[in-house]
Amino acid sequence: MPERVSMTTKVYVTRRIPKAGLSMLRSAFDAVRVHDSDEPPARAELLAAVRGCVGLLAMLTERVDAELLDAAGPQLRVVANYAVGHDNVDLAECTRRGVLLTNTPDVLTDATADLAWTLLMAAARRVVEADRLVRSGGWSGWAPLQMLGVSVASRTLGIVGAGRIGSAVARRSAGFDMRVLYCDARANPDLERELGARRVALGALLEKSDFVSLHVPLTEGTRGLIGGRELGRMKPGAILVNTSRGPVVDEEALAEALRERRIGAAGLDVYTDEPRLAPGLAMLDNAVLAPHMGSATHEARQRMAELAAENLIVGARGGEPPNCVNLEAHG
Ligand code: DGY
Repeated sequence: MPERVSMTTKVYVTRRIPKAGLSMLRSAFDAVRVHDSDEPPARAELLAAVRGCVGLLAMLTERVDAELLDAAGPQLRVVANYAVGHDNVDLAECTRRGVLLTNTPDVLTDATADLAWTLLMAAARRVVEADRLVRSGGWSGWAPLQMLGVSVASRTLGIVGAGRIGSAVARRSAGFDMRVLYCDARANPDLERELGARRVALGALLEKSDFVSLHVPLTEGTRGLIGGRELGRMKPGAILVNTSRGPVVDEEALAEALRERRIGAAGLDVYTDEPRLAPGLAMLDNAVLAPHMGSATHEARQRMAELAAENLIVGARGGEPPNCVNLEAHG
């Protein structure tokens, strides 16, 4: 068990998380306050709760910005984000103030890659629509032209962002004998060697892929990466999968492309303004919609809790947390 931190050791956790992480925090700190709910705290409650904290364990739903950092006070040492993505945090502002920011990479890679494939297969084979048909009592029995989808084997998979999760999604395609294209600022020699993956520009990837799966972080450079023009470059029957961040896709343009059948289907786990959806999206049979659950396995969420707790404990003690994204903030 980690030794208890002896300074003012107020820590705030903005949501119920798996017990393993909380136990680690409670063994290490005098005062661990948890927002004991599955809903996020109201902003005013959050600002009040962080006052005097040395550590904050935050979810992707919490905006960690100058206002929050001011409210916390200068003793705040570490923000441990319970996610691999950290677009909810003003990184520059944390760094400027010497506040460490940590995330939870690796432990959710397989879970998220599995969900990307779940969405891809569900969209390709119309599983959700089929489930609705059977449950509604509207199914009249087997028919040769019923519920036809598209085949996945031997087609082309386009991976936008070939980092940890994108690579894991690409590797899963080996069992389907797929051709893999990827687009990334950096070459990924491992994927090229293992899968014969080919690095191409985004436009070429969109034009040649039957399935396009997005795995880029949300930055100013990737916001709106897939808009009306990009959707227009996709093959008419192609399927778009997004398990990264909603604002990477122009959701209204996507809803329109799906409605007009300019692309085949989409499998989405993330949205621009969660939990709200772009108008009309929920009415479309060719959209499979999941509630931002890429990392939602018992195993991944427990490991995320442990990792976030470890990051927070090490950071609050003045050490270098294992998953710090701004080590330059370390004094
Ligand atoms: C992340 O980690 O960024 C996911 O979106 C939530 O687990």
